Amino acid sequence: MKLDFDSHGGNIEKEARRLGLAKENIIDASASIVPFKLPKKLTNYLINSINNGSIKYYPDRSYFQVKDAIAKWHNIDPSTILPGNGASELFTWAARDAGLNGISSLPSPGFGDYQRALKCWNAAYIHNPLPLSWSNIQPQSFPIAPKTNVLWITNPHNPTGQLWSRSSIENLLTNYKLVICDEAFISLVPEGEHQSIIDLTKTHKNLIVIRSLTKFLGVAGLRIGYAVTNPDRLSKWKDIRDPWPVNSLAINVTNMIMKDSKMHQKRLKKIHRWVKEEGKWLHMNLSDFHTIKPLPSTTNFQLIKSKISTLNIIENLKQRGILVRDCRSFINLNENWLRISLLKREQNIQIINALKDYVK
Ligand SMILES: Cc1ncc(COP(=O)(O)O)c(C=O)c1O
Repeated sequence: MKLDFDSHGGNIEKEARRLGLAKENIIDASASIVPFKLPKKLTNYLINSINNGSIKYYPDRSYFQVKDAIAKWHNIDPSTILPGNGASELFTWAARDAGLNGISSLPSPGFGDYQRALKCWNAAYIHNPLPLSWSNIQPQSFPIAPKTNVLWITNPHNPTGQLWSRSSIENLLTNYKLVICDEAFISLVPEGEHQSIIDLTKTHKNLIVIRSLTKFLGVAGLRIGYAVTNPDRLSKWKDIRDPWPVNSLAINVTNMIMKDSKMHQKRLKKIHRWVKEEGKWLHMNLSDFHTIKPLPSTTNFQLIKSKISTLNIIENLKQRGILVRDCRSFINLNENWLRISLLKREQNIQIINALKDYVK
């Protein structure tokens, strides 16, 4: 059955139209994007790029410079990297290989775009339930080991915010023909990078790691991510993908942040402090309500379990210009679940105050 609601948060334009509000007046806690402005250097680059001719030419299809910059940042070989039009485009290619290798396991609830990607290729998949309660201790061991050919992992997990330990994932790698690990949020998690398995692509040909700059830089509209895997696989993807899927602005912004280690580290520090402080604040304030329970999270969103349906709460918040994530599109969740993303303190206060009118 196709349900009639958006399967992703962040539909600001659509909701603003529906609510008759200006986009700027919407508080969007439905898509989990860092609320800070881009570093000035990157903003200036984007503003100037219209005038200085950067967009006159086709982007460099070899991605020579940006691959080199990403490779140096992660200490991996440039030939193992492929930039994409956001992580989502790369899921499409990973799903092609998943289909060629057999049946995929999708730990659920999980990010819905993997299903879209698999459907492109008529690839077979099953949903494997994840436990819906867990301790405060992070990272956790990856809790399931489905008996399929391909395993999709999200680290940290969306929508639960759990961080899986690197060692528990590493132990699983030999069980599968292909493992696809989406690390779109890992750079936002304080100490999260220690659990990354990017470097294991050096020794495991059956591993694809996918990263995104969407959340970290707050550039969902720019569209930039990259896959890390063995070069033979990437050369097959390159043979059949669009000629210029990644625009030059996205390439150059990525190049700049990867090369400028001072700017990169400063951004990481700012985000980690925010996730720690605002995560704690939001969790504490949500815990004061009797009918909802926020679950522990390592990243910039919190999954909330409610004793009653949250549909009225979601709609009432929307009427006040506040978007939170309706969780009905997540397999194994229902209308008793909500996901709220961290914003700046001022907006987090507005969200908590608004909730006080609808939640006991
Ligand atoms: C787990 C996860 N991976 C990837 C993405 C998409 O990343 P991108 O914007 O780079 O396509 C999202 C977006 O919400 C996500 O939640």
